[in-house]
Amino acid sequence: GRCHAVVPAAGVGTRMGSDIPKQYLRFDGVTLLEHSVNALLRDPRIESVTVAVSENDTHADTLPLFADPRVQRVTGGAQRADSVLAGLRAVPGDPDDWVLVHDAARPGLPEADLARLIDQVLASQVGGILAEAIVDTVKYVGDSGLVEHTLDRSRLWCAQTPQMFRLGELGAALEGALAQGLPVTDEASAMEHAGLPVQLVPGSPANFKVTAPDDLALAAWYLAWKEE
Ligand code: C5P
Repeated sequence: GRCHAVVPAAGVGTRMGSDIPKQYLRFDGVTLLEHSVNALLRDPRIESVTVAVSENDTHADTLPLFADPRVQRVTGGAQRADSVLAGLRAVPGDPDDWVLVHDAARPGLPEADLARLIDQVLASQVGGILAEAIVDTVKYVGDSGLVEHTLDRSRLWCAQTPQMFRLGELGAALEGALAQGLPVTDEASAMEHAGLPVQLVPGSPANFKVTAPDDLALAAWYLAWKEE
């Protein structure tokens, strides 16, 4: 199976408290979006990257990224899943090909994590995602706002991206989940709703999602640390 990538980058980034959507904030002179796409292109098995940007996006026009023949741009949608679907529909591949969906806001994807995900998914023929075992104790909060109970930490993992599935199966699962009005905050949840197996592949903290303003400094720190 051949491998392609889709990068949802159509968010407005309200949590960053910035005028610029977070995928266009820069560290080391390069936007988060470019760091994220370049991390994918470092693996020669990824043949194309389809980036979904928002309809009124003016930032993407200026990026040299889209001059790369492997990279194309489509218009995203209101929710992350809509943006991913728009990207999937434009992927230059067959339904049986693999697609890796990766957040524009995860600029620190390590080369080794990406290679491990692709190796394990290709070997097992089952889709999978990078994920990290939870280190904190997690509390379930009831309607009162008080702790109701503590979850069993040994079974909890934080889902990262890339999330790697068959192009056709993922598209059908996302369409089905959206049609049913199910909450779809990642691709794996749509596959789970469709009863399809999802493999967890251990990832690392460097692949965290930039969400708050302070995260930019942390992303820059991880980059410098990697280059040492
Ligand atoms: O908001 P959140 O951090 O969950 O966004 C994850 C990724 O999904 C980001 O790269 C963001 O740009 C993207 N997204 C999108 N379309 C939306 C909302 C979010 O492509 N409508």
